[in-house]
Parts: sequence; C-alpha cells; structure tokens
Amino acid sequence: MALSAVVDVELGDRSYPVVVGAGARHELASLIPGEVARVAVVTQTEIGIEVDPGRASRTFAIPRGEGAKSLATVENLCREWARWGLTRRDAVVAVGGGMVTDVGGFAASVYHRGIPVVHVATTLLGQIDAAVGGKTGVNLPEGKNLVGAFWQPTAVVCDSETLQSMPSREWRCGRGEMAKYQFIGAGDLRGLDLHEQVVRCIRLKADVVAADEREGGARAILNYGHTLAHALEIAGGFDLRHGEAVAIGLVYAAEVARRLGRIDDDRVQEHRAVVEHFELDHRLPAGVDIDGTIMLFGRDKKAVAGTTFVLDGPNGVEPVVVDDDALLRDALEAIR
Ligand code: GLY
Repeated sequence: MALSAVVDVELGDRSYPVVVGAGARHELASLIPGEVARVAVVTQTEIGIEVDPGRASRTFAIPRGEGAKSLATVENLCREWARWGLTRRDAVVAVGGGMVTDVGGFAASVYHRGIPVVHVATTLLGQIDAAVGGKTGVNLPEGKNLVGAFWQPTAVVCDSETLQSMPSREWRCGRGEMAKYQFIGAGDLRGLDLHEQVVRCIRLKADVVAADEREGGARAILNYGHTLAHALEIAGGFDLRHGEAVAIGLVYAAEVARRLGRIDDDRVQEHRAVVEHFELDHRLPAGVDIDGTIMLFGRDKKAVAGTTFVLDGPNGVEPVVVDDDALLRDALEAIR
C-alpha cells in the first residue's frame, strides 16, 4: 500500500484494526480469522468492487435504497447463507457504504447467534463513520434503525481507491460528517489531504467508541448536528442526503448554543466557514415548517422534558437538554 495507516479500536478481546490506504482491500484475506473456511460477501451489484477473501466465497447482492434496509433483506440473506451451508465457523464480508455494512453487520450478528464480519467500506461516509464502531441495524416502517445490534467487526478496510468512483452527491454526504468531526475533537481538517482527514476522523471515532461502546454517555458526541438532521430526514421531501442534513444541523446546533450563552458569534461563524469549506449548504431548505420541525425534535422525548441536543460549549461538545421552544424557533429562523 502506498499510503497506509492502521487505527486500532481498543475494546479488550474484541479490539480490531481499521486499515486505511490506497489498495487496502488487498489486505482483506489476512484480516479474516484464520479458522474461517467460507466467506459470504454482501454487497450491491452497482458497487462493482471485487474483493478476494482468500477462501471459498460467494457473493450475495442486496438491493439499493432505504426500503431494502429491512428485516426482509436480513431474512433473505440468512436463508441464502443457510442454503449455501455457511456455518458458525465462517464469516461475512460486507463491501459497500453504510447501508451494506449496517445490513450485512446485523445479519452477521444474528446468523447462528453471531458470526465474524469484516467491513470493506467503499464510501467516505462509511469509512469515517458507519463501518467503525459496531452499530448495525435495519429500519422498520415506524422508524429508521429501530432494530439492530452492537456487533463489532473483526476488522475494517478503508481503501481510498474505492472512493474514486463515488458520485459527487456521495462525496457531499461524507464531507458533512467530516465537518462534524472538526468540531468534536479531530482538529482542523481543512488543508489536510484526504488520507490524513480520513485517518484523523477514524482515530477520533475509535477513541470515542473505546470509551463508550454502547452510547451510555460520551459516544453521544458523534450525534453532533444530528437532531435537526434527523428531523429534516424524517419530515422528508427535501431531497437531502444524511451528510448534507448534518451540515445544516451543525450550524443550527451552533445557533442554539450561542443563544444559550455557551459559545460566541465567532464560533458560530466558524461553523458556517467549515461547512462552506466542505462545499455544503448551511441554510434550511425552502419550505421547512418551523413548528413541525420542533415537534419532530420532541419525538425523542423520553423521561426528561425538552430535547437532548449535542451542543458546543466551554467544555467542548456535550449533550444538553433544551426546553425552550421559542429559542429553538429563533435559531431555526436564523438559518433560513
Ligand atoms: N454514527 C454514530 C455512532 O456510531 O455512534
């Protein structure tokens, strides 16, 4: 590999390497546990990236689109694996973006009560976020990612060569998440080359996951910018990809934090500048219903009153309960 790095996710006996670099996918065979005899490769036909797991393998293609991120797809995979004869001593390799690693990882977590999975993340979003950290799952008609499991992979492969064919929209999606990392401790990512940006984001994610694997606390900072992003995605009809929605959500979170006296105007401006640097929009899409959006924030409401936002402040980014609809409305007007 020309330019390579290995980031370890330290989770005791479930620790694993994230191998980053041009051509990293050619390391795959050595990253699969030695005792594995067969590998089920899960991918989508449009991805078109071939991998060599170094043992008997068969490819299982899943459909594209959120609609296929379902229990039905997981059932189909498990049934096809059973017919092929995949055993509990075998493994899964998921080759694709976040949808493939979420679905393939979840199917691996339940097949024979759990078999090893290696993720080959082929999108920027997948490499810096979805494939690392063990969150897997599928949607229900009632909501996104409502059924899933924490199932840590045995290894993650992030090959920059697989990013070359990514459509521009997919780049935007990844850059929205990258902008997030800049505010949660990855340092200034502007001016770094792509390899260094990806490695910095993965290092931070690995540290956060090692400190709080099951999101009891610290891992929530990975949701910076996501409260508004999720509301925009749930409301739908705005033609926004996840990372594009996160970019808007970052600037919104800054506007909320400023109104709470947690940060100053310069820091809000820095949020806008970073999002602009990553060539993303930070204004609300036309037609957003302000009151409807605030109601969607409340959907997550559990025992506490108000909405838990992740907000910047003197101690860095942390979860904060906000129970002031007028403030939330004012901050939304500010990003129109
Ligand atoms: N994508 C957020 C997390 O892994 O916790």
